[in-house]
Amino acid sequence: MVQKHSIIIGIESSCDDTSIAVLKGNKILANYVANQEIHTEFGGVVPELASRAHQQNIIPVLQKGLKEANCSLADIDAIAYTIGPGLLGSLLVGSSFAKGLSIGLKKPLVEVNHMKAHILAHFIDDNASTPKFPFLCLTVSGGHTQIVLVKSALEMEVLGNTLDDAAGEAFDKAAKMMDLPYPGGPLIDRYAKTGNPKAFPFKVGNIKGYDFSFSGLKTGILYFLRKNVEQNPDFIQENLNDICASVQHTIVATLLKKLNQAVEDKNITEVAIAGGVSANSELRKQLKEKEKKGWTVHLPKFEYCTDNGAMIAIAGKFLFEAEQFGDLKNPPSPRLKF
Ligand code: KG4
Ligand code: ZN
Repeated sequence: MVQKHSIIIGIESSCDDTSIAVLKGNKILANYVANQEIHTEFGGVVPELASRAHQQNIIPVLQKGLKEANCSLADIDAIAYTIGPGLLGSLLVGSSFAKGLSIGLKKPLVEVNHMKAHILAHFIDDNASTPKFPFLCLTVSGGHTQIVLVKSALEMEVLGNTLDDAAGEAFDKAAKMMDLPYPGGPLIDRYAKTGNPKAFPFKVGNIKGYDFSFSGLKTGILYFLRKNVEQNPDFIQENLNDICASVQHTIVATLLKKLNQAVEDKNITEVAIAGGVSANSELRKQLKEKEKKGWTVHLPKFEYCTDNGAMIAIAGKFLFEAEQFGDLKNPPSPRLKF
């Protein structure tokens, strides 16, 4: 039976983080994440290595999560897991594990869309604030860049998408060109803090509506670095902070321009951000400044920005309460849409 304070575990394995969280009501009792260091040396996620690492991590992650939450398997009321989008091999590990638990514990399975979960992480009770419906959410991660109109926890409409690279991918690819290790987004954020954002003007293609395109920026950065390194082999080291600040400034300005347009067109000033790139300090700062223009801005707690089991558990809670249960026969869906 569905109860208000049911205990739900959330299993996330869509990319390179293995994470399991334990949720009671809207409160997270544990949110354990095992990052996969193995990809650093390859400059990006290697799908086969990711699946293997999930397989190695998933049981210890569950054990640590349950211990931290002071729960046992018998306390669990439902098992929520990421059914997609993501890497097939990675999703298969989490989905098979969730199904095994569901059969073994005789508890319902809940299938969660990873992108919706990033947004619903805002409803975990230890965030600084909780958005009111309807709100606009800019979801920016390593695989996606979307502006979403969130009408309720179960009803969302994607207004715009990236046509090519995601914002996180643009950060990571720019970082790779500067020989920074994967994932480069957090490093660009760090170096940018003491750089001049106007030092090097980069261009981003002008796309209609609420869609984005970052592939032109990637090519622009590549040619810019190539040309300057030919003249001065130490150009990147000597200008690292300014290059990072300029790249970050361009990406953040592009994201905010489209978000601004959506706020004006839809006349909705309740705004949230979600996904790994929502940890970016410049994006957070510039969004907070929008409060002077009448926006109500919701920034997720840092641990709920990048991939985590907590967001899967809270998204699972909404589905569980609506009695929208999963099916043991359903396979993971790498290209799952809304
Ligand atoms: O949501 P996420 O953990 O995984 C996906 O679902 O893709 O997002 C990971 C992305 C990576 O591209 C990473 O570089 C980026 O989020 N990221 C950041 C920051 N922290 C993580 N990008 C810019 N600034 C940050 N502080
Ligand atoms: Zn994600």
